[in-house]
Amino acid sequence: MKYEKEINRRKTFAIISHPDAGKTTLTEKFLLFGGAIQTAGAVKSNKIKKHATSDFMEIERQRGISVATSVMTFEYHDHLINLLDTPGHKDFAEDTYRTLTAVDSVVLVIDSVNGVEAQTRRLMEVCRMRDTPVIVFINKMDRDGKNRFDLLEEIEKELSLPLHPMTWPINSGKDFKGVYNLHDKSLLLFTANTKAEEEDSVVIEDLDDKVLDEKVGEKDASQLREDAELIEGVYGELNVQNYLDGKVAPVFFGSAINNFGVKELLDTFIRIAPVPRSRETTKRMLSVGEDKFSGFVFKIHANLDPKHRDRIAFLRVCSGRFERNKYYHHVRIDKEMRFSNPYSFLARSKDIIEDAYPGDVVGLFDTGNFKIGDTLTEGEDFYFTGIPSFSPEIFKELVNKDPMKTKQLEKGVSQLTDEGVAQLFTQFGGNKKIIGCVGELQFEVIQYRLLQEYGAACEFRALPFYKACWLTSNNAAKLEDFLRFKQQNSAEDKDGHPVYLAQSEWFLNTEIQNNPDIQFHFTSEIHK
Ligand code: G4P
Repeated sequence: MKYEKEINRRKTFAIISHPDAGKTTLTEKFLLFGGAIQTAGAVKSNKIKKHATSDFMEIERQRGISVATSVMTFEYHDHLINLLDTPGHKDFAEDTYRTLTAVDSVVLVIDSVNGVEAQTRRLMEVCRMRDTPVIVFINKMDRDGKNRFDLLEEIEKELSLPLHPMTWPINSGKDFKGVYNLHDKSLLLFTANTKAEEEDSVVIEDLDDKVLDEKVGEKDASQLREDAELIEGVYGELNVQNYLDGKVAPVFFGSAINNFGVKELLDTFIRIAPVPRSRETTKRMLSVGEDKFSGFVFKIHANLDPKHRDRIAFLRVCSGRFERNKYYHHVRIDKEMRFSNPYSFLARSKDIIEDAYPGDVVGLFDTGNFKIGDTLTEGEDFYFTGIPSFSPEIFKELVNKDPMKTKQLEKGVSQLTDEGVAQLFTQFGGNKKIIGCVGELQFEVIQYRLLQEYGAACEFRALPFYKACWLTSNNAAKLEDFLRFKQQNSAEDKDGHPVYLAQSEWFLNTEIQNNPDIQFHFTSEIHK
């Protein structure tokens, strides 16, 4: 393999969590370990403030800042780590789902007090679609959380994810004394605000050693012995291949804010997390080790500030070597393109780069040539599969307020939906244009951008739909009949695929039951 050395030193991943579980704090600790930032608090400023939800321009401003940290690259023990940031704000969930198509593994943060939350479930569903390897970090052990056995059971059950504890906590809340590393057989004693080099770790090969009683007291020592015996009996050794196949998730306990248990997590991550792997395309399996370059666009960020109206397409390199100023083949528009200012994202600053390797993410200035899922190659025509669109959750009719600007409106809507801001459906029979988004905020963004960038005025009328399902069937006549009978609820997506817009779960289930010849899908693959 020509680029074996570069490929094998890269780990590209994302930290995901329900808002407030501690994703930002953990990200920051990772960057501190990697030497990419010097002080705590540096990442915080990039976080979309939870309370600024009503002012989308403010959120966009903050999102603008966060573009610089969309990908944070740092080195740790000779490894090059690409940490892809995902927006914390739920209205940008679709951005997060797409980012997950560009990573090789994830770290899932769970709040020990709240356990599994709504967003945790949805994120895991997306991970499961690609069998993404997951490591779980149970955070906030310094707070009185749920019983740890109950918590593990809850996670396993709710996320259908078999777990494997790597460390085990000694109490929680004010009685939290630390964690025992079941793998290294060492005891890590809890102190608040631990600095990387100051961790108080004691090797305890044999848990019957009296040192354990001295360190944590007799009562907790005997509890730990009991717990450890139980865990070893149930779980045994971690099977790394099962983790890589997405079948089991190693679990760590800690406290991100106190930098406690984070190093154990990072060290194990480095040891077991996958390096970039081969990927399926519409034509063939693409080996990561191939000499020729290929990559795909998984996210497009447009700046709303009229003074800096730039657009950045985020490209994940999948094989070969990406080089600055070299011509590449844009498969969808069948055009050769070169990039004179591609940049990488070294924490907090954007740098022009000369080249990039599999696992890396490159930022490309875009003047409207890209849409999500686009592929660049050295000439071959194919697309990467497994880049889905998800059903929106809010649907509104797009109403043109200025008939003189119909063309501009159409162009604007087409471009914005290419960027992935929203999805566009056209009702069958009528010509009603329906915009579907994951969050209310997107409607404001669309209205604002259509006016500012395309001079088109529009308004939205609420529609009573709750989910879009893509329809397929081996029986074309049945599908056609269904679409005709359900005209009010039928539409086609931007690529002409038929879609059923359900008013409620009850209606949806009824239709699924009544139409066994039709398959209802909650996601649609951009390229199959
Ligand atoms: P997020 O990105 O997942 O949304 O979470 P974030 O890291 O911002 O953490 C959410 C809140 O939880 C923050 O407090 C953070 O300080 C706190 N936190 C993170 N890790 C721990 C931990 O191990 N223990 C405890 N007790 N708290 C933790 P905040 O008050 O919302 O924000 P801030 O004022 O501290 O910035």
